[in-house]
Amino acid sequence: MTATATTATTFAALKKDFPILQTQRHGKPLTFLDSAASSQRPTQVLDAMNLAYTTAYANVHRGVYGLAEAATNAYETARLKTARFIGAPDSSEVIFTKNATEALNLVAYSWGRTNLGPGDAIVLTTMEHHANIVPWQMAAAEKGFEIRWIHLGQDGQLDLSTLDRLLDGAKMLSITSMSNVLGTINPLEHLIPAAHAAGALVCVDACQSVPHMPTNVADMGADFVAFSGHKMLGPSGIGVLWGRMELLEAMPPFLGGGGMISNVTIEGFMPDAVPSKFEAGTPPIVEAVGLAAAIDYLEAIGMENIRQHEIELTAYALRKLREELGDNVTIHGPSEPAQRGGVLSIELKDVHAHDVSQILDSHGVAVRPGHHCAKPLMKEMGVNATARASFYLYNDTNDVDTLAAALSDAHSFFAI
Ligand code: ALA
Repeated sequence: MTATATTATTFAALKKDFPILQTQRHGKPLTFLDSAASSQRPTQVLDAMNLAYTTAYANVHRGVYGLAEAATNAYETARLKTARFIGAPDSSEVIFTKNATEALNLVAYSWGRTNLGPGDAIVLTTMEHHANIVPWQMAAAEKGFEIRWIHLGQDGQLDLSTLDRLLDGAKMLSITSMSNVLGTINPLEHLIPAAHAAGALVCVDACQSVPHMPTNVADMGADFVAFSGHKMLGPSGIGVLWGRMELLEAMPPFLGGGGMISNVTIEGFMPDAVPSKFEAGTPPIVEAVGLAAAIDYLEAIGMENIRQHEIELTAYALRKLREELGDNVTIHGPSEPAQRGGVLSIELKDVHAHDVSQILDSHGVAVRPGHHCAKPLMKEMGVNATARASFYLYNDTNDVDTLAAALSDAHSFFAI
């Protein structure tokens, strides 16, 4: 499939795979525009999980009976598939976590608390989701290292004018690949080599990019990459941390319990090898099966095609909302669609984001209002809240038209 008009038709046809997109809200067809918070799931994912629960479920890495081996195989096949999907050189470098937040906490807790102390510094950006801020702040409060900040610059982009100074002597740059508020795609191809040249490692919060564009961690050159299953058509309850093997091997475990040890005595324990070392307790077994089915679905469409579809849809939305609402609408983030993902943080003149979202809901349109778990960014943008519309492969221009009409209604309603 190539990215042409045919593609648009093909993408429009995908809606039928998503049962929830056939439902109605307030008597109107559901127009789901909140995939940056969590995507919906196709029948293929739901069926794969149902099949696993009904025919192949047991705990993994424990039993020797056939059913347990089948469940273990399915779980490990999901790890192999995930590794291939993100271009990981070794599938053992893929660790399944509860979500991306836990993956980032794992890095801050395990790597951070071992390698950072007084006199050390790390670099974050004010564009980060709280999940890539708070774990580092918790570690800094305990270990006494400094957190330096790359601030927001022009046109929704980071201000990189002082990058060299910020990176000087830093041990870690932890950064989002794509802002969940602005859609900004950060220039990792520039930032990762710069951080490495300064002697810092790089941890990438890739939650908003892995579901929407091709990812190759080997080419990217980062040291850790975190993302979640529920934003990429998979179930909630599973996230992924990829890390370079030598770093993971040198890190202490994060959580302790069953499944992560090679031996335990009353004197102490020996951790198991990576990845088991970081997968304490019963892991997200059927969630991994669902994630593998989501990857199959995404790969069948092609990540390049998905990216192209979302660029076209974002360009259409930026035009359409401007035509419909003129100066009454502000859409934050980069003006150039190719520099952003399908995330539109919308401000409607004189109307609070929560009111906008409520009116939109009455039209069947689901968007997220608020600070989007990115309060430092909102502060630098000078806003308390936006109504965020975010697209995925199942959205089309009809959804954008419905959004534009609903926003017009919200504006007329509150302007009176
Ligand atoms: N991180 C998710 C969002 O941006 C929940 O909405």
